[in-house]
Amino acid sequence: HDLGVVAVGFSGGQPKAGVDAAPMALIEAGLIQQLQDDLELNVEYDGQVHSYSEFIPADDPPFRNMKQPRFVSAVTQQVSEQVYKYAKEGKMVVTLGGDHSIAIGTVSGTARAIRERFGRELAVVWVDAHADINTPETSESGNVHGMPVAFLTGLAKEERSDIFGWIKEHHKLSVKKLVYIGLRDIDRGEKKILKDHGIKAFSMHDIDRYGIGKVMDMALGWIGSDTPIHLSFDVDALDPMWAPSTGTPVRGGLTLREGDFIAECVAATGSLIALDLVEVNPSLDEHGASDTVRAGCSIVRCALGDTLL
Ligand code: ARG
Ligand code: MN
Ligand code: MN
Ligand code: MN
Repeated sequence: HDLGVVAVGFSGGQPKAGVDAAPMALIEAGLIQQLQDDLELNVEYDGQVHSYSEFIPADDPPFRNMKQPRFVSAVTQQVSEQVYKYAKEGKMVVTLGGDHSIAIGTVSGTARAIRERFGRELAVVWVDAHADINTPETSESGNVHGMPVAFLTGLAKEERSDIFGWIKEHHKLSVKKLVYIGLRDIDRGEKKILKDHGIKAFSMHDIDRYGIGKVMDMALGWIGSDTPIHLSFDVDALDPMWAPSTGTPVRGGLTLREGDFIAECVAATGSLIALDLVEVNPSLDEHGASDTVRAGCSIVRCALGDTLL
């Protein structure tokens, strides 16, 4: 097998129902079939969209302002194990979300596997309208899908094992190995975090100024060749014109081609070891759902080496 697929039907990191239906919508649109037939990849998939209902806690009151903290913690801990198992075997891992809180699981799983296999640190390319780097204290919403990067980098910490205390050093990502692309809606507290820690970020302003080609050269140059890359792609990085069916759309985003181009450039490095495609919500802006799903499928194919010629 060349790659493993994990289908995460999870919406608990944010309040809108429907994002849990995205993996099925992507698969029904032919995504796995396309990877097998068109890209001739050997795909391992357990044939199920996980709903993680066995992890629903009896009682899950807010903690440090986080909503559904125990549920999100338990699910991401399980996703971390699922992703780790594939990555440890040397498989590329494709995770279909689900809201972006699931990246706490995916990135922690690959970071651990890369450390064990190569004694190396992981790099993450985070493509998103948002930075998702709020700590529980800086978050205005309390939604954990706005916090995954804070937990993954250790900027947010919690001792309680049932509320992200399971995240250990070997799961973590260095702030120096993180690069953002597509940002345009950053909360005040997040701006300070990005600045204070010197985190590399290419906003839509940078894309307007330099063009996506130059931005990708700079982003991948920052990571350097020979560092394993995990690409975490939030579909809301795309302009709502192309991907309207998502929970927190922000106008002024990437074109369809810019999104695919980012994935193509990461694929061309030969260093991609994992990909997340998150925040597709087919029940929002229903007329645009098929466009959003198609855009998501295209990004995955591009990241896995599909080329125009
Ligand atoms: N910054 C806002 C928050 O923390 C929005 C986050 C949106 N995140 C996402 N994965 N779509 O609530
Ligand atoms: Mn986003
Ligand atoms: Mn905002
Ligand atoms: Mn996001």
